[in-house]
Amino acid sequence: MSKQDIFKQIKPEIKKVFGSSSRLVSKLRSICSILIDNIDYCDWAGFYILEEGMLHLGPFVGNETEHSVIEIGRGICGQVADRKETLIIDDVTKEDNYLSCSIKVKSEIVVPVIVDGKIFGVIDIDSHQKSAFSLEDKAFLECVAKHISSAVEYKES
Ligand code: SME
Repeated sequence: MSKQDIFKQIKPEIKKVFGSSSRLVSKLRSICSILIDNIDYCDWAGFYILEEGMLHLGPFVGNETEHSVIEIGRGICGQVADRKETLIIDDVTKEDNYLSCSIKVKSEIVVPVIVDGKIFGVIDIDSHQKSAFSLEDKAFLECVAKHISSAVEYKES
């Protein structure tokens, strides 16, 4: 199945999550499950949420990670939170500023979730395959991030 077909298939599931009245944390957990269950090259999916100047591990699906708190600027997640721009890493072994949570991970995409121009958190997805993520994944995940921003804004208004 092509990436476009996978995304087309899971879009209604994602929409359903955001249409529900569940708590934000449950919504985020559901998003992780949908991504892991449907995208074969996703081996870890999770959120880091900014609280008191640090990124804190939120809902995730995959192996436990030692990186439960990450400073802004550190690792891929910290850089994305700093720059507020998506990063796609084709080969994590070539990165100096990278925090490894498993030697199996070969590539990664991290997408910012921005609310009112400020970082709310990041979506982090790891793959055991090199160069797993493309601009198609970026576009799809940035759309998911926008849904999350709207859900946060709605909750806070
Ligand atoms: N690799 C990330 C750290 C999080 S773990 O992958 C779950 C990073 O470099 O920021």
